[in-house]
Amino acid sequence: MMSESITSMFFKSWEFIQDLIKSDSFGYTTIIISLLVSRMLLTSEFVAFTALWGLLYLCLNIYWAMNYWKIRGVKHFKPWPIVGNMARVLKLEYHLAYYYDEIYNAFPGERMVGMYEFMTPSLVLRDTELIEQVLVKDFSTYPDHGPFLMEPKSILFESVFAMSGIRWRAIRNRLLTTFTTGKMRVIFPQILAPCQSFVKGKPKCLNVEIINELAVKIFMTAMFGINILPTGEEELMINCKRIFEPKATRILQLIFLTYFPKLSNVLNLKFMPRDLDDYFRSLMNTILDQRENIDFERNDYTKVLVEMRKQEKMNIYNMRNDKVSQTFDMTNEIALSQAFMFFFAGLDTVSLLILHLAFEFSKSKYCQDKARQEVRSVLKKFNGYSWEAVREMKYLEQCILETLRLHPSLQFLVRITDKDTELGGVKIKKNTRIVIPIHSIQMDPKNFTDPNKFDPERFNVENQQNKFAHLPFSDGPRVCLGNHLKYISIKNT
Ligand code: HEM
Repeated sequence: MMSESITSMFFKSWEFIQDLIKSDSFGYTTIIISLLVSRMLLTSEFVAFTALWGLLYLCLNIYWAMNYWKIRGVKHFKPWPIVGNMARVLKLEYHLAYYYDEIYNAFPGERMVGMYEFMTPSLVLRDTELIEQVLVKDFSTYPDHGPFLMEPKSILFESVFAMSGIRWRAIRNRLLTTFTTGKMRVIFPQILAPCQSFVKGKPKCLNVEIINELAVKIFMTAMFGINILPTGEEELMINCKRIFEPKATRILQLIFLTYFPKLSNVLNLKFMPRDLDDYFRSLMNTILDQRENIDFERNDYTKVLVEMRKQEKMNIYNMRNDKVSQTFDMTNEIALSQAFMFFFAGLDTVSLLILHLAFEFSKSKYCQDKARQEVRSVLKKFNGYSWEAVREMKYLEQCILETLRLHPSLQFLVRITDKDTELGGVKIKKNTRIVIPIHSIQMDPKNFTDPNKFDPERFNVENQQNKFAHLPFSDGPRVCLGNHLKYISIKNT
């Protein structure tokens, strides 16, 4: 009788521990908590068995996790238990992107390098063929970014950036209709106006604040069709700055949200402070309400969002017979999320690019003069600014591409495997993080000779570059959504 109850206790506690561990990569913390609870509630035998099996499972779990790449024959730096290779990132000595650079450069002969982001095995790709496979050819195996910075209640959680599966595809396709060349041509004057008044204002210096202000004005007029802000301009600028505030506590919080999403949920960690989230929710709601109530017939991004939030359901059609194959609920939250996404996905990326371009021009008088000359002669030819004129500024575009090579706004991409698979002859498990270190690849002399030199001629049409060695906007079905918009706004500035 006694042995029967011990056996059943054993299995129950074993299943219990397994469930806990599966529930999060940091599941063992939950075991420790449960042990404390069980100690208070249950018999001493149960406590002893849970403790014993919990400890054993924990040790095995750490052992297997920390040998993931060794077993697979993938080169890697030796990890520490639990923190893996993240100790210096955790101590805030290193930005994660620099750590990827270090790993990338340490194994020059390899197609891929293993890494341990805490207990999560990640694969850092070095080979452009593998990158093409992940981003494009086998996209269905690597469709999502995985847990990334935000928690489920965040205003960003329903944005295309964070969405996955069929909902992602449907919303993305719907938004894409607003980024066509035709639509961009229509909003061109609204992009131009804030740029021209910025230049007329003769700013004495260029810094993140000034450029962010310009980018916000461009988004407001071009994408939301608003000249006068619904709330105070100063407050908006302060809050935009707060989105990416580089405070140590904030950075640690974002690391937690990315690597331990379930634990972060328990600890109530947030992507943005609640007041900031509330501020942007209310701003986006006001913008969409205003647009719904005024007679503004521009067929643009905001119009699509207004239409979206009026819908109760969204249908997904079968490409072959054009019949509805699936349906999902549309919510106000989905529309709000896409509206806010501009600030998240567009603001810092565009501002950083403009600043870096100005920085490179300040160092290279030759390139600056050549770009200025081109702008002047194109404006003369087209009799001033127009969509066509801006598109003809080829050298300026080369300068932008070269700036993005040296200073990519996003230094790495992440994909998560959605099933067990094989990549470059290595068997990898479902949920493995695949890292594409854009900065490291673009600074690799194998891909670009003399990589530290600012040389826009690399992107001259005659110099064909390997497409998958230059990925500032990524590639494949998840390529940056704002492609057309950013070129035009940056060239105008
Ligand atoms: C210089 C400016 C920009 C750069 C360098 C840039 C770069 C990128 C990169 C590298 C990605 C990641 C794609 C991936 O994971 O494969 C991305 C995604 C995205 N970008 Fe941009 N971006 C810029 C501006 C913008 C703007 C202005 C918008 C405005 C809507 C935007 C919207 C997005 C969205 C929605 C995604 C997620 C796409 C998806 O997951 O389906 N970006 N961008």
